[in-house]
Amino acid sequence: MNIIVTKDEQEMSQKAADLLQQRNKPESECVLGLATGGTPLGTYQELIRRYESGEMDFSNVTTLNLDEYVGVPKSHPQSYRSFMQENLFKHVNMDTRKAHIPDGQAVDLKEECARYEALIEEVGPPDIQLLGIGHNGHIGFNEPGSSFESETHVVELADSTREANARFFTSIEEVPTKAITMGIQSIMKAKKIVLIASGEKKADAIQKLLSQDVSEDFPASALHRHPDVTLIVDLAAYQTVQ
Ligand code: F6R
Repeated sequence: MNIIVTKDEQEMSQKAADLLQQRNKPESECVLGLATGGTPLGTYQELIRRYESGEMDFSNVTTLNLDEYVGVPKSHPQSYRSFMQENLFKHVNMDTRKAHIPDGQAVDLKEECARYEALIEEVGPPDIQLLGIGHNGHIGFNEPGSSFESETHVVELADSTREANARFFTSIEEVPTKAITMGIQSIMKAKKIVLIASGEKKADAIQKLLSQDVSEDFPASALHRHPDVTLIVDLAAYQTVQ
């Protein structure tokens, strides 16, 4: 695992944007694996800035998002479809028909998971996958105990994850209890993975990740088995690591 420690969140976002930009070659289709949440916001702002200044073009970009809440309408402001639309897609010249996110409102969720996994094979795998990390080490919505063999599936969200995400809703009761997520095995198919983390709240998770123990109790530890992972972490999240 290649580790980059940055002075702050802004520098973390710029370095992540650098890696995404490097994979976006004008001569071929580029597949970006994307995440939602607070951590990638700065990276998306940086990508938008680079598009507006003519440094980046998104016409050849296909995206595959990691996850989506179950039962939340696409138009709901907290659906991950809305999140991506508001924070990236509507600001750049990408064809949103090539922007893929699991459908959390599918009538048959099992069938939707199989469809999404087949889609990863068809349009992917991502040239680069952007990941955040949960306090409990989740990646995507693969909570502790998730099998490293898992493909796209429906998960019951951990209480700690619902509490962490309650900041985006008016109350914890509003936070969905289930989500569709790419599995650990689906995530590991990406050619390159970049995990970003910032702030002291992520320090424990980063310390555990860097302890090198590989266990399904700490989902992000699967990344130690991937040949090309870059961790970009700001000083606050890196601070307790000895
Ligand atoms: C979101 C996702 C999650 C988040 C994680 C960290 O698509 O897959 O794994 O990356 O919950 O969230 P933030 O960045 O809000 O701390």
